[in-house]
Amino acid sequence: MHPAKHISFHFMCGIVAYIGSKKAYPILIKGLLRLEYRGYDSAGIALQNGTLNLYKKKGKVADLVNAIGEQNTSGQVGIGHTRWATHGKPDDINAHPHLSGNERLVLIHNGIIENYAVLKNALIKHHGHQFKSETDTEVLVHLIEEVQKRENLPIEEAVRQALTQVHGAYAIVVMDREDPNKLVAARKSSPLVIGVGEDEFLVASDATPIVEHTKNVVYLNDEEVATITIQNGLVVKTLRNEVMTPTIHGIELEIEQLEKGGYEYFMLKEIFEQPTTIAECMRGRMNSDEGWVHLGGMQEHMKRLINAQRMVILGCGTSWHAGLIAEYLFEDLARLPVEVEYASEFRYRNPVVRENDVILAISQSGETADTFAALELAKQRGALTYGIVNVVGSSIARLTHSGSYIHVGPEIGVASTKAFTGQVTMLTMMAMVLGYERGFLPKSQYQHLVQELALIPEKVEKLLETCHEQIKYIAGEFKDASNALYLGRGYNFPVALEGALKLKEISYIHAEGYPAAEMKHGPIALIDENMPVFVIATNPSAYEKIVSNIQEVKARKGVVIALVTEGDDEINKLADYTIQIPSTVEPLTPLLSVIPMQLLAYHIAVLRGCNVDQPRNLAKSVTVE
Ligand code: G6P
Repeated sequence: MHPAKHISFHFMCGIVAYIGSKKAYPILIKGLLRLEYRGYDSAGIALQNGTLNLYKKKGKVADLVNAIGEQNTSGQVGIGHTRWATHGKPDDINAHPHLSGNERLVLIHNGIIENYAVLKNALIKHHGHQFKSETDTEVLVHLIEEVQKRENLPIEEAVRQALTQVHGAYAIVVMDREDPNKLVAARKSSPLVIGVGEDEFLVASDATPIVEHTKNVVYLNDEEVATITIQNGLVVKTLRNEVMTPTIHGIELEIEQLEKGGYEYFMLKEIFEQPTTIAECMRGRMNSDEGWVHLGGMQEHMKRLINAQRMVILGCGTSWHAGLIAEYLFEDLARLPVEVEYASEFRYRNPVVRENDVILAISQSGETADTFAALELAKQRGALTYGIVNVVGSSIARLTHSGSYIHVGPEIGVASTKAFTGQVTMLTMMAMVLGYERGFLPKSQYQHLVQELALIPEKVEKLLETCHEQIKYIAGEFKDASNALYLGRGYNFPVALEGALKLKEISYIHAEGYPAAEMKHGPIALIDENMPVFVIATNPSAYEKIVSNIQEVKARKGVVIALVTEGDDEINKLADYTIQIPSTVEPLTPLLSVIPMQLLAYHIAVLRGCNVDQPRNLAKSVTVE
């Protein structure tokens, strides 16, 4: 079975907890260091040692250790957290663990509480709660406190009852100052593993903090609550109060493999996460049954967005490619004129920016220096600025007037994959909203797009399953090429650019992306039997034109690897290899067609012995100009 099948992908934060015969603190810190790949905006620890010692700090685990210094770290029961910010900027206050209002309970959380605003309002209004942070997590611990107080319940019962009111995803561990020899853990949709040692238990987001202590683990199921004490061991109940018998599994994987979820490289893991990350990006913002998209960041500025004269999109690298797709989306669906600019070029040429322009900045890291500076300039000139960013609280997110986070979790591989599909998903949702609000996208069409977009995660999953082996084979055939050409039209022209960029950045093969029709104006001179030509031929509107382009390549003895829609027989006869993608409506095809391009670059690079996650000369976050 492929690793993707038995790992649930939910990131944003790592959690770890310990109860046993040893000192908890060093075990928790080591565990957090292992989990740091899941997020490193802030870290925190709480220890039971007669009182509750709570330490938390913005930044990495090392910053937390420094801040704790020589303070009291005794105790054999404790919890720790490393954060990837979702609600609230990364700072000391928003860092986990979070305390209840009476400071009796302390909680760590990985996931998103979707109805936190409703719960928060009720807690404030009816029970007088006050909140220190902007997080959904603090709401959860206050809710548990409220339930506990009402009937003086044991902590595990308060957790169980409180969770029946919660919508969203969570993996949590809670401690109660009044019941200090106990951990209570629960999960839904976010991962949680419990390590069962001889005289100790560990709880963590994945097995990496656990394996050096024990190889015996219990995977908690959705909507289960675990109560852990040394005296009674592990007791598991469902939210409906049924007692479950936990099954113990043995883990065989080594630590390195575990961090990467069993994948050889983060890049492959991130490629395979895409069915989840695309869904994460849409979560709570789109409802396919009712047929709507709601983006809070747009709502606040809807008038200016509707009345915008034009949109200028800024980005670098892969984010710029996502911007190019957005140009097709916004012009097609919302009839808004769009210009897409390399941030570096835009900022140095004294650009024309007007007050009724909308400037959209796309950046995974939110720290790219050129994008930041270009945005600053546009803001000074009075335009509305909007960020499409992954890293919460990053510089670009803070600079813009408004924006939407793509919420795809930490991207570790330098070559961007899941951030790209997250960006394109977000841009598609934005274009749909704007198209509808500007009156260019009729309701029926808008709702049809919502339904089609909702199907994309499962189509990506199917595509990953069906094309992976074939792509590995094709990679073997072309791993020694010195050049490659990528062609696409319309919505898939930017995908051709992205395919070429992926190949060149990680495999060091020279590759170029071109609009298919432009091939005649130059690149065709390069085509011979040694030149693989990857043609993205999945757009119904330009189908005949693409068929002609393929014929032109074949006539020069070029080797054609075509990406086609399932059931396409015509190109199958012409091309040397065809890779099939599930069918969808044309504006959504890039979300599917880019997947084989990512996998192909990955496998070619692996076969060439390249370090896929850290290609030479490149950096994940480019903060120099
Ligand atoms: C670097 C990375 C690319 C990324 C680009 C823009 O070149 O290697 O993967 O697309 O920067 O980064 P940003 O964080 O702004 O999206």
